Amino acid sequence: MSPSIRLDGKRALVTGGASGIGEAAAKLLRDLGAEVVIADLNKETLDEAQARTGAKIIMQGDVSSEADSERMVAEATVAMGGLDLVFNSAGIGDDLLPVHEQSVERWQRIVDVNLRGTYLMCRAASRPMLAQKHGAIVNVSSIVGLGGFPRRSAYAAAKAGINHLTHTLACEWGPAGVRVNAIAPAYTRTPMVEALLERKAFDPTILERRTPLGRLALPEEMAQAAVFLLSDWASYITGTVLPVDGGWGAFGGAGDVATA
Ligand SMILES: NC(=O)c1ccc[n+]([C@@H]2O[C@H](COP(=O)([O-])OP(=O)(O)OC[C@H]3O[C@@H](n4cnc5c(N)ncnc54)[C@H](O)[C@@H]3O)[C@@H](O)[C@H]2O)c1
Repeated sequence: MSPSIRLDGKRALVTGGASGIGEAAAKLLRDLGAEVVIADLNKETLDEAQARTGAKIIMQGDVSSEADSERMVAEATVAMGGLDLVFNSAGIGDDLLPVHEQSVERWQRIVDVNLRGTYLMCRAASRPMLAQKHGAIVNVSSIVGLGGFPRRSAYAAAKAGINHLTHTLACEWGPAGVRVNAIAPAYTRTPMVEALLERKAFDPTILERRTPLGRLALPEEMAQAAVFLLSDWASYITGTVLPVDGGWGAFGGAGDVATA
């Protein structure tokens, strides 16, 4: 084992790689020596993300489409001559509406992109990985998938689903040498969250006071946790949902961390 994480010779696919946590992970994977393909729904942002991350190839597609998920994995595998690592970061946020005000169509889309998309990408990636008898996958859950969050019903259900999907796949594929883990980020300063802050959907100072580390996370901090789980440094870790939350889940007091 090298004294620091190195990923030379590894071939990685990152979904949602054109922004935020996915982009940060793609860049870190590349910096540590891996060959990287980034996939994203957003055509406009893919080109710039390729320049920023040094990804070998970009591909446009919708993770919630069975055909797209199969195509993206097949093309990435051919382009790199194999597939060792997958980071499933593609996702969309919730409408921040109470259950009785949210449309069923919107609920379904949020579940489809986050949960079905993760399922489909894992399923497609399992073909090359099970055949070669190794591979590592990291999915993206959320602290919203670990507890009740008002006005986040679709997102919470989807992320909680990702937790158990991760557990189940780890059990199914462990005997074949394929590890499956997830990270559960707290609020992270990505374009998704910056857009919410801009429209004053929530007050960052409340979140900061509720968080023992006293600040929101950076996308690079999520990337570090994901890349650790993807790397051989995590060779005996599978089926784990790792909170990367600045202590959010540890806090059980009443009110603010600063005053409790
Ligand atoms: N930012 C946070 O605070 C936070 C917290 C917990 C979990 N997460 C999760 O982290 C992941 C990344 O979020 P982010 O904050 O970096 O958001 P982001 O919006 O910056 O990036 C998400 C990327 O996913 C892509 N995407 C969306 N739908 C897609 C689809 N159907 N197919 C392919 N690509 C698609 C988007 O185009 C975008 O480039 C998501 O799964 C999100 O739910 C984020």
